[in-house]
Amino acid sequence: MKILLVNCSPVKNGATAEVIKTAAAFLSSGGEVKCICIDDYDIKYCKGCRSCHTTAECVQRDDVTAVLEEFDRAEIIVCVSPSYWADIPGQFKAFIDRCTPWCNTHEPYAKLKSEKRGYTIALRTGPSMRECGRIIESIEHFYGHLEIAPCGSLGLCSIEYKEAVAARTDEIREFCEKILNPQATEKQPKLKSKLFSELSAAEIYEILKARSKVFQFEQNIHYLDEDDVDYKSLHCFFEEDGRVTAYLRAYLDSENIRFGRVLTITHGIGHGKRLMELSITAARNHFGSRTIIMNAQNHAEGFYRKLDFVTTSAEFLEEGIVHIEMELDVTKVN
Ligand SMILES: Cc1cc2nc3c(=O)[nH]c(=O)nc-3n(C[C@H](O)[C@H](O)[C@H](O)COP(=O)(O)O)c2cc1C
Repeated sequence: MKILLVNCSPVKNGATAEVIKTAAAFLSSGGEVKCICIDDYDIKYCKGCRSCHTTAECVQRDDVTAVLEEFDRAEIIVCVSPSYWADIPGQFKAFIDRCTPWCNTHEPYAKLKSEKRGYTIALRTGPSMRECGRIIESIEHFYGHLEIAPCGSLGLCSIEYKEAVAARTDEIREFCEKILNPQATEKQPKLKSKLFSELSAAEIYEILKARSKVFQFEQNIHYLDEDDVDYKSLHCFFEEDGRVTAYLRAYLDSENIRFGRVLTITHGIGHGKRLMELSITAARNHFGSRTIIMNAQNHAEGFYRKLDFVTTSAEFLEEGIVHIEMELDVTKVN
């Protein structure tokens, strides 16, 4: 498998280059990896003359074709772009503009070989994922018109300089595993998010069974699980072969959204992280964009911190187990 990693930043040895170096180390176990930097090529601005609409060629002569040849040699393309003023850097935008001869909105166009997969990593200094989303959208739009299938993306916030990349190795490795093993990703269950009145009798039974198995049977907590909060909750869960394998409930607690009863039955396959990420989006779609609060068992503090939750209380006992209160600020968009 030939994999091309494209540094969309003009900085050859900055944070983007460091993300590429980290990703290349993981991806090289599954293919032949080549890394290029947009700044190594002579790329003139598009003149907007539209000659390419009839000739499928540019009137200017520079390195754009050489970059597209690299694209054409690869089966997997991973564009890694920093945010410059909440967008892709100008150098990469100039390159995209110059790809108009390869754009499928007019005939003839210079086609790339088919069945390429495209991935995107966006990084930025600021904390909100929304801006990474903009960059990912631009690059996936570009992929779409070159008939490269957009297959996945990763946003990395809070990275100013390359020294900050080492702490993000786990996220980059996990993303690279998805690139190398896309079937595993396809098999992941979809999130169900339902109000109490929308749940079937079997779903309610399976949810209560999962909660009782984890909290009462495994963790030996003695409490009345059916506490009426379920009636006002959004129930977020994965269901596999009719069984609930991950679950949480979300409900309004004054101005905030409160998460509770968080559990996973199958461990170690990223279910917990996916459940949280998808449920944050589902809960905010349902209750509005609000801060999310939860009482977390203190051994899970590190897990929630990686999802941008911060600790807002000292340790306290709940049902005999040490907890802390954590919150995900309203500005943190998943
Ligand atoms: C000109 C310029 C504009 C930037 N604009 C933003 C921005 O709008 N939002 C943001 O979060 N970070 C912004 N950054 C920070 C970069 O996204 C961040 O430092 C990134 O890690 C740089 O990667 P690089 O060293 O590979 O270029 C900007 C950096 C530069 C140089």
